[in-house]
Amino acid sequence: MLTVAVLQQKGGSGKTTLAINLAAAAHLDGRRTLVVDMDRQASAFDWSAAREDGSPLDGLAVVKADRAIALPRFKEIARGYDYVFLDGPPRLGDVTQSAAVAADVALLPIQPGPFDFWAVAETLESLDQADQVREQLGRTPIRRVFVVNRAGAGTRLAREAEQELRKSGGELAGVVHQRVAFPDAASRGESVLTSPAAYAAADDIQRLWRALKGGKHGPQPQEAKPRTKREASEGGRGEARRGRKAHRRRRA
Ligand SMILES: Nc1ncnc2c1ncn2[C@@H]1O[C@H](COP(=O)(O)OP(=O)(O)OP(=O)(O)O)[C@@H](O)[C@H]1O
Ligand SMILES: [Mg+2]
Repeated sequence: MLTVAVLQQKGGSGKTTLAINLAAAAHLDGRRTLVVDMDRQASAFDWSAAREDGSPLDGLAVVKADRAIALPRFKEIARGYDYVFLDGPPRLGDVTQSAAVAADVALLPIQPGPFDFWAVAETLESLDQADQVREQLGRTPIRRVFVVNRAGAGTRLAREAEQELRKSGGELAGVVHQRVAFPDAASRGESVLTSPAAYAAADDIQRLWRALKGGKHGPQPQEAKPRTKREASEGGRGEARRGRKAHRRRRA
């Protein structure tokens, strides 16, 4: 079993979006997958309730747990699942702490620009505290993995964010671009992987998912960059490859 806690104290950084889309990727891979919604806003829970029957995401479990969960209780909740995604709240405190004690990986979404870098420093301190508790429990330190979210295709800010992360020694699992497909899919209880014409967003999620589950296809930021001005204006490599028709469909 692998447990991924999506954590970042800054509100709106993309925790829920990434947790539900990665969970969808795991579920569609045939893995028994659980999302634990640890936020009082219950966005992930509402997301699953909005889904129509007969969706390819049927069977993807989402439970609410907006209080701190002790490790034995967490193990009970997670029993029988291959992948568990913890959708953290937009604040530090005992709920985030308990997620960081229970998880194997902390996935930290960063939006390009300075504010998220400053905000993540406090989240990292909170992971340091969780590591002390983990040590007492005989657990190894949590693996800290960053993802740049809401990147504009080929923008300077996104590249700078990648460079900053690499300089700070952080492990960068991938880059997810700003795409309307994310809120659009979420509003129907779906993922970008189960939405028509969301190819570019789906590419980002699949790449991130492969990096997280430890496949040989790690992060490839070089490839993720658009190669020509025209591709950049069309929104990235995935769409450029699929041609203008797909691009028109996505915009429609
Ligand atoms: N890559 C993306 N492209 C477009 N929209 C995005 C992307 N990631 C997130 N969003 C949108 O940004 C908003 C905030 O995202 P989300 O709810 O996932 O953040 P969060 O960190 O879970 O927020 P909170 O801290 O309030 O729980 C949502 O409307 C979501 O649809
Ligand atoms: Mg959220």
